[in-house]
Amino acid sequence: MFNGEMGEAARQSMEILVALGKIYGAEGMIPVTSVQVAGVSYKTIGDAGLEYLLDLAKKGAKVKVPTFLNPAGMDREQWEEMGIPEGFAKKQIEVLDAYAKMGISMTCTCTPYLVGIRPKVGEHIAWSESSAIAFANSVLGARTNREGGPSALAAGICGVTPNYGLHLEENRVSEFVVRVECEPKTNADFGAMGYWVGEIAKSRHPAFLGMKSADEDRLKALGAAMAASGSAALFYVKGITPEFVVGEKPEEVVFTAKELKETREKLDSKEKPQLVTIGCPHASIEEIREVAEVVRGKKVACELWVCTARKTKEKADAMGYTKIIQAAGGRVVADTCMVVCPLEEMGFKVTGCNSGKAAKYLTNLCKQKVVYGDVGDIICK
Ligand code: F3S
Repeated sequence: MFNGEMGEAARQSMEILVALGKIYGAEGMIPVTSVQVAGVSYKTIGDAGLEYLLDLAKKGAKVKVPTFLNPAGMDREQWEEMGIPEGFAKKQIEVLDAYAKMGISMTCTCTPYLVGIRPKVGEHIAWSESSAIAFANSVLGARTNREGGPSALAAGICGVTPNYGLHLEENRVSEFVVRVECEPKTNADFGAMGYWVGEIAKSRHPAFLGMKSADEDRLKALGAAMAASGSAALFYVKGITPEFVVGEKPEEVVFTAKELKETREKLDSKEKPQLVTIGCPHASIEEIREVAEVVRGKKVACELWVCTARKTKEKADAMGYTKIIQAAGGRVVADTCMVVCPLEEMGFKVTGCNSGKAAKYLTNLCKQKVVYGDVGDIICK
């Protein structure tokens, strides 16, 4: 591939992987079983990114291993009803078509693990959306670095990734323990805890002690927030994650009800939201059910989007949750999310969420004031 014997697209992709491997001192390449590619929204990649993809597709690029897409900038079916500008939609379709030409699955989700793509403990993968990486490394026990969009795509085309960083066991040891001395319960609690820990941990691997319970939805909220306020790509929870590897003398911090309350308050502007968004990372069917229960028989006083994977939306349609949410004036939105769609171009200024990650990026990337809280508190205000 490196010599161009398998075509120009493979040569170009292998060149990226070899360069990365040299920078990080990898001894070689390792095969990957799946790839998740970020850099899908036209909002984040722009014309330069689109040209890069069109060029690769023209050169005959084809993925060799199952490769999946991160959310795009719009719902492919409801973009007009959502109010997405037409010019944006046209560019977005070009981006998606280029990926489709390369043989990539149009999953358009940051939660591939909720739609059946669940690598096993010890499996090597190359994923590139930060919350998906944290979940895969920590909750599933797979091995992936924080790939960028181009390096993940190159891994999909070549079927391998440089063997360094989190692919090596010696780099998966936590030196940073978080003792939890309170009982976070909701997604907003776990998002706030993740936000607080991520700011201190930065790129280290937090290892939680004392957490009584946390289902997959709470763990995805926690990992997403830590990967956003910091850059944690791996965390452990004693008694919950399949692995728990801590060094001999870790630094230790304590998270109490005080930090939880203060972080929730810090994230909340207390304004009136024009739009409430649930589903960062993309909502599970249980999270959609929760929203449906809150709005059943009511009319919401602002716009409401529940962002999810298309497959999960189809489940929600079949179970009647989509109808309940629509009857209340909300919408279940697939393929996209509040952060990667052109929210600011659509006239929104104040947005509600229950996600630590969304709170960070709605402020930084989407020029929004954030209203932060539990589903029942931020909807129907
Ligand atoms: Fe997913 Fe968008 Fe949040 S990609 S993790 S819903 S910012």
